[in-house]
Formats: sequence, structure tokens, C-alpha cells
Amino acid sequence: MDKHGSESYFVIGEGLLAESVGGRERTLAPAAEDEAPPFRFSRMGPNGAQRQLTDANRKRIGDAMAAGGGGSSQIPAGFTYLGQFVDHDLTFDKTSVMLGEHVSPADLLQARSPSLDLDSLYGAGPNEPGSARFYEDDGIHLKMGKTVAADGIAGKDGFDLPRGGGNTAAEKRKAIIPDPRNDENLAVAQTHLAFIRFHNRVVDSLPASVPIGQRFARARRVVTRHYQWMLRTDYLPRICAAGAVNTVFTNGRKAFEVGATSTDVPTMPIEFSVAAFRLGHSMIRRTYNWNRIFDDGFGFLDLLFSFSAGSGDLGGNQRLPSNWIADFCRLYDFGEAGRDNLVVPEHKFNRAMRIDTTLVDRLANLPGFPSDEDNLAFRNLTRAKMVRLATGQQMVTFLKNKGVTLTKLTNAQIRDGSNGVTLDTLTQSQREALLKDTPLWFYILREAELNAGKLKGVGARIVAETFHRAIEGSQPSIVRDPTWRPSLGPDDETFRMVDLLLFAFEGKKTLLAPLG
Ligand code: HEM
Repeated sequence: MDKHGSESYFVIGEGLLAESVGGRERTLAPAAEDEAPPFRFSRMGPNGAQRQLTDANRKRIGDAMAAGGGGSSQIPAGFTYLGQFVDHDLTFDKTSVMLGEHVSPADLLQARSPSLDLDSLYGAGPNEPGSARFYEDDGIHLKMGKTVAADGIAGKDGFDLPRGGGNTAAEKRKAIIPDPRNDENLAVAQTHLAFIRFHNRVVDSLPASVPIGQRFARARRVVTRHYQWMLRTDYLPRICAAGAVNTVFTNGRKAFEVGATSTDVPTMPIEFSVAAFRLGHSMIRRTYNWNRIFDDGFGFLDLLFSFSAGSGDLGGNQRLPSNWIADFCRLYDFGEAGRDNLVVPEHKFNRAMRIDTTLVDRLANLPGFPSDEDNLAFRNLTRAKMVRLATGQQMVTFLKNKGVTLTKLTNAQIRDGSNGVTLDTLTQSQREALLKDTPLWFYILREAELNAGKLKGVGARIVAETFHRAIEGSQPSIVRDPTWRPSLGPDDETFRMVDLLLFAFEGKKTLLAPLG
């Protein structure tokens, strides 16, 4: 499995806090790497030294969390993997696709800073020699790939990521995209492909008067702003209490990089990366009604790993077999856009699991990790310990002192939750330790669980402020240009993920669900 978390955490002002064996690969030439800044993590709240749970306790909690349970949410399942795509955009280290010999210190700093500018899609742009391979010969369109015939379905152009570089079978399989983590499972891979299509369609819809030399940059600006608008107005309110998102985007931040010059390069708070945004792990389903063929729950999560090149071998192929092309109508609800002909019956539709303290049991045994380290919940809790992350209680106090209004969970709420994980397998003293110093990820998931599956309080605030800062610090930025409005949706206030997909796939059922 391509590990999509950071292996090293260099926190500004503190240095390197955690590095697991075989940490992040150095991507620049050795001399350049020695000079280059690491990815810029920071600490939003207090240090949680002395407040971490024991290994045995974290193990018990991790086992309980990843034992399955919990129910579905109302959120269409596509948003789970949109979230993963967003995480990769935020944490993408652009130096991995730069040749790195003549990169200025300012560019390096930018390249290793969080932003919501789709650099995981664009790399360093068509003019950078290290990134030119992601583009068609015109240097404007992004490359797409062709699937391989399967189950009587012909190979189809434009339904797989581009592949085919290199000589060995593994190299040929590898997706030719800036961020290989977007081929870690088939759902995130097909999401990446939808964004490639979106860009290409935006290019094709530019007025003919836009000179050739400006077409790429113009399209990228249009794409990026629409993407940010969609995240702010569609994605965020689905995962967070809408009030929290609106407050931050209307009144500004109170806790994170308050008063930063908006064009300064942002940092990534470890409270977001190691806790809050790992909320996505609880949204993952065990099985999907993936398409007409892998239907009725036969789209197992395992198979979504197998039919990727990051965690599998594309089922023994060098390209995606046609019978695995996504049916986006089962992942997103096009009824929201009034497109009833793209709506599937409810029992065929996939909804994300509720955001809560439970993970599907498949995540207790991640492929490619040693057996005592392969439980994703345990890994998340352990990563937090490594960076001495603040606890839920510490973050409540911290945010309140910054003037954020929120209600602290009671011990009974942390203990009992609402149809989430039960703590029966913990000893009395382990339970007491958990209630006193609650790991932030667990605390945030309990908050969501008690709020019908939407982040609230501490979790909502951390997520909303981090997104706000990452959009503010991006080039271009809808936060810095508040008068900008979308032009590719139904009206100038509306641009949702379904609108993005409709535009990308030309509104056609034959493209959104090519298997029918
Ligand atoms: C099948 C899907 C997924 C798998 C197998 C997976 C697995 C992982 C693994 C193994 C890590 C590293 C754990 C560690 O050692 O610290 C990680 C980190 C992370 N994951 Fe996921 N994940 C998935 C989906 C998601 C989704 C849907 C989201 C968010 C919506 C998400 C957010 C994150 C974040 C924020 C990190 C930390 C990133 C960093 O360190 O920079 N993941 N995930």
C-alpha cells in the first residue's frame, strides 16, 4: 500500500518529532534536499506531553474502534474519497515532481506547504521538465488512460489514469500522475480521473480568443477556484456542522495563524493532520455497490485496493479492466442537480459510514504493514503519541481561551457516545485514563457521533480553520478574492461536486456510468 500519511513530522519551532522506519523518501538531489525545508507542520494548540495513553491502552482502544459496527450516514460515499483526494492535495510535496536543481528557496517553501491548489493534479505545471509527462503534447490537456477489455466490455479511452511508462510490469502499471497516493485505491483513482476530465473540459470551453500561451494558466485558475468553492459550500457542510464553517469563513479564524499575512505560505497543524482530518477513516465502507457488475455489495474494499496500482496490481493487468470503471451515479446523488435520469434506486446507492468512533473491520488489517502495526485506528492513536498531540480536553481549553464558543463533552458522553464504540474491553483504569486524557482523534469522532455524524465543537473548528487558511494561502484563492463567483454551475452561487462531475463528464450518463 502506498502510505498516504506522512512518515516524518517536522514541526516548526520543535524540529523532527516522529519518523518511522523507512520515512518519507527524499525527493530532491541530495545536495538540494539538505538545503530544502521539510514539509511545514505546526502545532495549533498546546503540547500533550505527559498526557498520552499507554501502548496497551491505545491497543485496546484501536482494536475496539476497528471492530466494525456503526451505521451509514446520509453522505453519499463519493465524498469519502473526495476527502482523501483533498488530503493528498493538502499534503502533496511538489518537490517530488520538480527537477529541483534550479528551484528557488521561495518555490521550495511553497512546494512543501499545504494548499488547496490542486498541485497533486497539476504537479509543477507543464513547463517544468519533471512534470511535463503528465500532460498531452499540447502542454495544456492532462493525459488520461485507456481501460483494458474485460467481461465483454471493450477498452475505453479516458476511463483509467494514464499508465504505461517504464519497462517492468510494475512500472508500466504505475499511474503517470503527480501524486501516486491517488492510485492507492480505485475510488480515489477514479476521483483523480474525474478531476483530469474536469480540467480538460474547462480547457475546451475557454473562448477561442484566449491565446494558446495563456490557455493552461487560465483553465487552471478556473478549475482551482471552482474546486475551492465546491469544498467550502458542499464538502465542508456535509462533514461539519454548517454553523462552524460559516462562522470561520465569514468572521475569520480565531485559533490558527490568526492575523497571518494572507499571502504568506501556510503551515499544516498536526491537530488537523494527525487527528481531525483522519475523520475520513470512519467513513470508509466495507463493501460498495460499485457498478452494474460489482453490484449488491460485491465491490469489496479489498477489491478497490487490488484494482489499483498503489495497493494492488490492477487485478494482474497493466491497465484498469473495463468492468471496474466507476459508476458515479452510485457514489453521488445527481437528484441534487435535478438530474433524475442519473439517480439510482436507494438500494443501489452507496452512502458513507457515519462519522463516529467506529471503523470497518477491514481497517484492522491494512495490507502491507507488519501485523502488530496494521490496525489503522491504533496507527492514528500512536502517531498522535509520537508527536505529543494535545488531548481533546486540552484543545477545548485552548479554543475557549481563543474566544471560540463550544461545549465540552462530559465524561459520560466520552464514555458512552451514541451507538459508537463501547469501551467494555478496557480495564477500569484504562477507561479512566481515556476519560481524563482523551486522544484528540477519539474525542473529535465522539463529538461527531453525538451530533448525528457531523463534526462539531473542537473537530469542526480545527477543520474549518485549516481549510480556510489553506485556501487563503493558495494561488488562486477564493478567500482572498471574495467577489469571485462560480460560472460552471446552475447559478452564480452554486457549484457542488455533482456540478463538477456533470461538467467533467458532459452531463452524459454514458460517461458517468458507462457500464449502464
Ligand atoms: C481506503 C482508504 C484509506 C486508507 C487505507 C487510509 C490509510 C491511511 C494510513 C495507513 C495512514 C497513515 C497512518 C499513520 O501511520 O500515521 C493515513 C493517514 C491519513 N489519512 Fe488515510 N486512509 C484512507 C482514507 C482516508 C480518507 C477518506 C481521509 C480523509 C477524508 C484520510 C485522511 C488521512 C489523513 C489526514 C492522514 C494523515 C496525513 C499526513 O500524515 O499528512 N484517509 N491513512
